Amino acid sequence: MRNEKGLFITFEGGEGTGKSTQLRLLAEVLQKAGIANIATKEPGGTDIGQELRRILVTGDKDKCDAVAEALLYYADRRIHLTNKIWPALENGTWVLSDRFADSTVAYQYYGYNKRISMEMLDDLYKMVVGDFKPDLTIILDIDPQIGLARSMAKSRTMAVKETRHESRGLEFHNNLRAGYLELAAREPQRFAVLNADKSIDELHEDIKKLVSERSKVNLCQK
Ligand SMILES: Nc1ncnc2c1ncn2[C@@H]1O[C@H](COP(=O)(O)OP(=O)(O)OP(=O)(O)O)[C@@H](O)[C@H]1O
Ligand SMILES: [Mg+2]
Repeated sequence: MRNEKGLFITFEGGEGTGKSTQLRLLAEVLQKAGIANIATKEPGGTDIGQELRRILVTGDKDKCDAVAEALLYYADRRIHLTNKIWPALENGTWVLSDRFADSTVAYQYYGYNKRISMEMLDDLYKMVVGDFKPDLTIILDIDPQIGLARSMAKSRTMAVKETRHESRGLEFHNNLRAGYLELAAREPQRFAVLNADKSIDELHEDIKKLVSERSKVNLCQK
């Protein structure tokens, strides 16, 4: 892992797995440990990205196909990288992102049962992101039925319903989960898969332990 630059940690997983909750808790712990960090997300980590987020996560699930989705996600990602992620890392600030490029592979490739080609996604990655990768990607893994139930309960209290992907069938979400596990198996040095079917506090402890192991910072002392 890099020293002088900030670390780039991404949270991945299906709907309602606890990504946003756990990212916020990790950001707080890092802050207390004196590590400058920003919490961000995809899509919508920038002002322009917020406009793309509205298109991508609201409305009819079939309003555009997987190719168009992938292009929109990569437009959001490029702006996110150039305007926010790269400048922060250069500055020594850690960046915690709620989703990144693995989400595009998981949703647009595996979720749709490989309706678009991995070559196209690999090419897009090279074009937009280059050789850059997260230092650590935490996959929160849970039975999609549990995650979707959490997510739907949460969305009932939200003014804008960001349920475009939640509304896809269970087969999509099972493909997605299997896809994430396949990605993790291919690159075990970057990924860590954590069982998300536990309490918020227990999972937070697992994440602190993991980040401590993979960085030079001990977040576990009492
Ligand atoms: N370990 C947990 N046990 C029970 N409920 C949880 C747990 N973690 C999060 N939740 C609750 O489940 C809902 C979804 O959590 P959260 O928003 O963190 O997940 P997410 O992965 O970011 O979801 P989304 O994909 O919808 O953005 C929230 O209402 C949250 O309070
Ligand atoms: Mg979330």
